[in-house]
Amino acid sequence: MTKPVLFVTHKLPQAVESRASRDYITRLTPDNTSWATNGAETARLASEIGAAGILCVPGDRLDSACINALPPSVKIIATFSVGFDHIDIVAAKARGIVVTNTPGVLSFAVAECALMLMLTAARRTGEADRSVRAGKWSTQIAGVTLENKKLGILGFGRIGQKLASIVRGFPMEIHYRNPERVPSELEQGAIYHDNDAAFLQTIDFLSMHLPDMEGTRKWLNAARLDMMKRGAIVVNTGRGSAVDDTALIAALKSGHIRAAGLDVFDGEPKVNPAYLTLENVTLLPHIGSATIETRDAIGYKALDNIDAVLLKRTAPPDRVV
Ligand code: DGY
Repeated sequence: MTKPVLFVTHKLPQAVESRASRDYITRLTPDNTSWATNGAETARLASEIGAAGILCVPGDRLDSACINALPPSVKIIATFSVGFDHIDIVAAKARGIVVTNTPGVLSFAVAECALMLMLTAARRTGEADRSVRAGKWSTQIAGVTLENKKLGILGFGRIGQKLASIVRGFPMEIHYRNPERVPSELEQGAIYHDNDAAFLQTIDFLSMHLPDMEGTRKWLNAARLDMMKRGAIVVNTGRGSAVDDTALIAALKSGHIRAAGLDVFDGEPKVNPAYLTLENVTLLPHIGSATIETRDAIGYKALDNIDAVLLKRTAPPDRVV
């Protein structure tokens, strides 16, 4: 039987690439040397190579125009991520294209990244690192501690809950805000808030884990930042669209927000240039899930999903539509 063609929009980890090429003709582009940069190109290349499946990443925009332009050979879009806001799932459903994601396997890595950003922002390690590189030995760089502080987790799904379970080892009180209260066994002692004001007025650290959707865009705006304690710290490893950058930049400049750690940006890979001028913000290029172990696990999970649809191995475990 001829192997189905799998259009891979970005380079895969070596172990995942080896497994993929066992069962599929994997193609980046027709000449297999580079990758697509936008939705129109993705659709054009998928047609050119007769793709049966597309393995994409959050940086790809598979909007309705792209999905409607895909050739009928495409049966599945499998994203190498838990987030699937970059794919128009309504358009995919209308075309009968299965969409899958990779929940679970990256929760620890992203939660770990959130904790790392909390520590980095609190202890000013970015500034300290830059001082050593600049030949200065700035021992006066003093941060704040996590000890006896209150952490607020915004979005208490898999990743938010994983962060709570890691932080339970710290002397911190954990609070959370979520559309609804989770069952008590998943709360792990975290305190639920059913309104933004009480939540934001209580916490010293805000860790954001919101998906990009109607109702979450620009969630952290000037009004909500004003509700926060002076000197609070903001960390975002969810989606950049949940932050009103202009408002956060103003709060970082005034010192109302002491520091921020951002792994995700509205319109990434573009970053609001004002962030680049601020010492009290740590900027990462969306590497929340980027550990070698996790990237392999994400790749295997994405391939399990593709195998289920294209090779009819098992029911796709992570079907979104
Ligand atoms: C995802 O997989 O959606 C996350 O953004 C990884 O950081």
